[in-house]
Amino acid sequence: MRENRGQYTTITVCSVCRCKTLHKFLSLGPTPLANSFLREDQLSAPEPYYPLDVCFCSACGLVQLVHVVAPEILFKDYAYLTSTSKPMEAHFARLAEEVIWRFSVPPGSLVVDIGSNDGTLLRNFQKYNMNILGIEPADNVAELAMSRGIETVNDFFDERLARIVFAERGQAKVILATNVFAHVADLEGFVRGVTHLLADDGIFIIEVPYLVDMLQKLEFDTIYHEHLRYFAVRPLVTLFNRFGMGIVEVQHIGVHGGSLRVYVHKSPCSLSSSEAKLLELEEEAKLGSLETYQKFAEEVWWVKEALLSFLKSLKAQGARIAGYGATAKGNTLLNYCKVGTNILDYISDTTPFKQGRYTPGMHIPVLPESHFHESPPDYALLLAWNYAGKILQNEEGYRQSGGRFIVPLPKPKLV
Ligand code: TYD
Ligand code: ZN
Repeated sequence: MRENRGQYTTITVCSVCRCKTLHKFLSLGPTPLANSFLREDQLSAPEPYYPLDVCFCSACGLVQLVHVVAPEILFKDYAYLTSTSKPMEAHFARLAEEVIWRFSVPPGSLVVDIGSNDGTLLRNFQKYNMNILGIEPADNVAELAMSRGIETVNDFFDERLARIVFAERGQAKVILATNVFAHVADLEGFVRGVTHLLADDGIFIIEVPYLVDMLQKLEFDTIYHEHLRYFAVRPLVTLFNRFGMGIVEVQHIGVHGGSLRVYVHKSPCSLSSSEAKLLELEEEAKLGSLETYQKFAEEVWWVKEALLSFLKSLKAQGARIAGYGATAKGNTLLNYCKVGTNILDYISDTTPFKQGRYTPGMHIPVLPESHFHESPPDYALLLAWNYAGKILQNEEGYRQSGGRFIVPLPKPKLV
């Protein structure tokens, strides 16, 4: 383990409201980066670890990480490819259709996707003859998108880049930021960039995992260094108000364990019924109270104990256990619960890049799906629980022949 001071900063003010009213409520301990899968030759080298602590801002209600790892370390080379997850492909195809029809986006409009990954979302806009542009900081991923015919700027989005894009391409009718809004270190620069690039009648769409789901379903494993913030509607209202923007509508959607899709205009809007409904839900869930988070932290500790003793008891009976889905969130779970190769023989995953590598911290080998089918374990720990429905359906054969899935959260359960 190597503590990497100097490669992360510690926040002193809230990234949404700038207040100093930050209260730390959870520490998952020093943790390696969740997507840093290791090659075999890297296993003996000291691995960088960074603190993984979470705090709550009592002024605006934002939940955020205390320590921010430098973006260049996190995002210049990236393991996650959207196109490897079929359910996300389908989700993005529907998103594109909804945006185009709802906002009557005419062909030829500039559609910018920030954090465009391998271009999976933009390809759907391309089908409708939109003028598309991806912005993607990871060199390897941007290159892949380009090779697939998706024009991509290989850079971080900020005000500077927004000005360059605007000068070269004009204003954007649609700007998308799905699963990236929680990742950007300079949130203000990001939003300023959006206000600069977006047309007056344009629409800005974000998708972020929803704090209410994380708390209610105990999805603590979605906490890792890439996810700097855990959003609810209330802090988003504060943020967009600061920039004179307005929320048109908020949808509570199912992806990534429960997320928000937020449609935002450049100018203020009156409170929509969807926004009011979710604000009420947040009130009921006591999102404004520090005790809610302290209770969550206690539950996280309990589930760790429960999962570990459950897995150990299966192991003591001679069971063979493998992980299913080498997810980033799985690495939070495994590192925090200290589940290593003493418990899991391997983790199966469909992503070619991860296969043959080892998980950060616990060093569990990642093997292709074919291995899972050739040598099925007695139990499969479902680390990709966000795709539970699809995976359980796909693995009907495994279950028919006696294999069981362990769903780890909100409490360990056999299915
Ligand atoms: P993802 O949903 O991106 O989770 P995270 O953001 O926590 O990394 O990752 C899903 C992972 O699971 C990805 O590596 C692909 C893998 N996977 C399978 O191995 N089999 C499947 O059937 C599905 C749907 C995903
Ligand atoms: Zn705040």
